[in-house]
Amino acid sequence: MGLHSLNLSQIPFYILIAGAAAIGFSILKVAQVLQGMENPLIEHEECFARENGCQEPLHNVSHGLFGIGMVRAMLAAGREKRFLELICTWHRDYGTTFRATMAGRKVVFTVEPKNVQTILALKFKDFELGTIRSDSMRPLLGNGIFCSDGVQWEHSRALLRPNFARNQITDIEIYETHVAKLIQHIPGDGSTVDLQDLFFRMTLDSATEFLFGESVHSLNDVTSPAASAFAKDFAISQEGLAIRGRMGSLMMFYRNKEFSKAVVDARSYVDRFVEKAISHRVALDSGQDVSEEASKLTEQQYVFLYELSKRTLDKTELTDQLLNILLAGRDTTASLLSITFFILARRPDIWTKLRKEVLELDGRKPTYEDLKSMAYLGWVLNESLRTYPIVPFNVRMANKDTYLPTGGGPDGTAPVSIPKGQEVMYSVYVMQRHQKFFGPDADEYRPERWENLRPGWAYVPFNGGPRICIGQQFALTEAGYTAVRLLQHFEAIESRDSKPFEEALTLTLSSANGTKVAMTPAKST
Ligand code: HEM
Ligand SMILES: *[C@@H]1O[C@H](CO)[C@@H](O)[C@H](O)[C@H]1NC(C)=O
Ligand SMILES: *[C@@H]1O[C@H](CO)[C@@H](O)[C@H](O)[C@H]1NC(C)=O
Ligand SMILES: *[C@@H]1O[C@H](CO)[C@@H](O)[C@H](O)[C@H]1NC(C)=O
Repeated sequence: MGLHSLNLSQIPFYILIAGAAAIGFSILKVAQVLQGMENPLIEHEECFARENGCQEPLHNVSHGLFGIGMVRAMLAAGREKRFLELICTWHRDYGTTFRATMAGRKVVFTVEPKNVQTILALKFKDFELGTIRSDSMRPLLGNGIFCSDGVQWEHSRALLRPNFARNQITDIEIYETHVAKLIQHIPGDGSTVDLQDLFFRMTLDSATEFLFGESVHSLNDVTSPAASAFAKDFAISQEGLAIRGRMGSLMMFYRNKEFSKAVVDARSYVDRFVEKAISHRVALDSGQDVSEEASKLTEQQYVFLYELSKRTLDKTELTDQLLNILLAGRDTTASLLSITFFILARRPDIWTKLRKEVLELDGRKPTYEDLKSMAYLGWVLNESLRTYPIVPFNVRMANKDTYLPTGGGPDGTAPVSIPKGQEVMYSVYVMQRHQKFFGPDADEYRPERWENLRPGWAYVPFNGGPRICIGQQFALTEAGYTAVRLLQHFEAIESRDSKPFEEALTLTLSSANGTKVAMTPAKST
């Protein structure tokens, strides 16, 4: 292997971090010595904290030199697919809010609903995604909504918002073709099938049709790992983005030819649709002849790209935003379905109740209103998102000196100061399974709890505040529609995987071993 192809992603992550931390640490020390050991910054922080009544949380955790132990524990847990369990253990041992040092990086961990509300809504302007998330995704996602902060994010949000108006999301016919194809791939003879693989293909097919006006049809050939070149390029790109994110401030050393090529190819695939849409819009606006293909397409269905081109004709912007939405919306919806069916295959009691509600439709395809009126279906989806939130662990960085309302002092009720540049880690997974907020059976999957549950900020699977998931209704509609169609076509489901759930965690959570099941077709459909 030549030096040029040395792949830093194969060097254990904590060694990279350790190196960076040690360098950072010595620079800091030298600077302090030069300043005569005074640090005006820290004095200012202390003053700010005193003024706001801040107190220290009970625990300030640091394992090993520079807190390298915590990073090692995270990496080991990640490899052993028990990362989320580790974070649970930390919060059990150190409380709902604690400080920690991770490889020289000082951070705060919290799962207090009031703090989460503060970060996401009350003091939204004091926090941002931070440069690591944004920069790691930049190669594929450019300056799109998912990886920008401040005015750039505001611009994206305002641009995209109208495209998610209710009447566009309620047009549920777009799902039927793809669900029908998915059903065809489920064997009727009791042999095992991985529903997770099929759900990931289905959401790619429906999302590309919705966004570009043309599906990549990855469900057409399920024997190939990725039926279309775009599906493959997108998968490779996503993997590269995840590695860059994990490398943190050392991502500039990430070199991978396959990744670079996949990014270029994925973007140029989308560019082709964008160019078509732009020429269509220009022709329309100037009264020229429009392409028959494009007119037919936009008459027949709602195409996200063509709607968006009414508000911008900037090619890069359109490509960026389409890829951002595809990334944000595809895996998430597929994971929700995969995890829900993973559970249904193990819980015949829940399957039976849900199917009873579905059969009230008499085999008719559900409308948007039908889906909204199905209470048990709503409870099941909510309970899946509570126990297996698809974005289980998240981070925000303070962009000014600020503080959280709770978690400090001996009884954990005083405010906690967050100096500028510090990161706050919040785990929706831990919060949504915490007995303090969901009672003694918090870890149990029990849809019926939603009959009376009003969890407020203790339940935020789609985040909250100004940056709340823009595709929430879209996702719940697609997942609900797919679940109903499957329950109409199959009368029973059986798990073909005896092991408990294991996490597969990138930015999003899915099942490490997929959703291996066998399904029995209903007698009269
Ligand atoms: C079950 C499915 C889904 C879940 C659990 C989910 C969850 C989330 C979460 C937690 C965030 C906040 C991320 C952050 O700020 O750190 C988010 C943002 C976002 N989601 Fe979703 N999402 C889902 C489906 C979708 C779909 C289907 C779409 C689009 C069609 C979508 C589009 C977006 C976009 C564009 C953002 C960024 C919003 C912004 O930053 O202003 N999501 N989603
Ligand atoms: C927490 O511990 C770290 C590392 O031991 C230390 O540098 C830091 O000053 C402590 N923070 C507080 C607020 O006591
Ligand atoms: C699901 O949870 C959301 C958020 O708490 C709530 O508004 C909604 O009513 C719940 N759905 C059902 C069917 O209980
Ligand atoms: C994964 O699924 C297979 C069935 O395809 C099963 O035999 C195996 O026990 C499952 N679990 C794990 C953790 O491998």
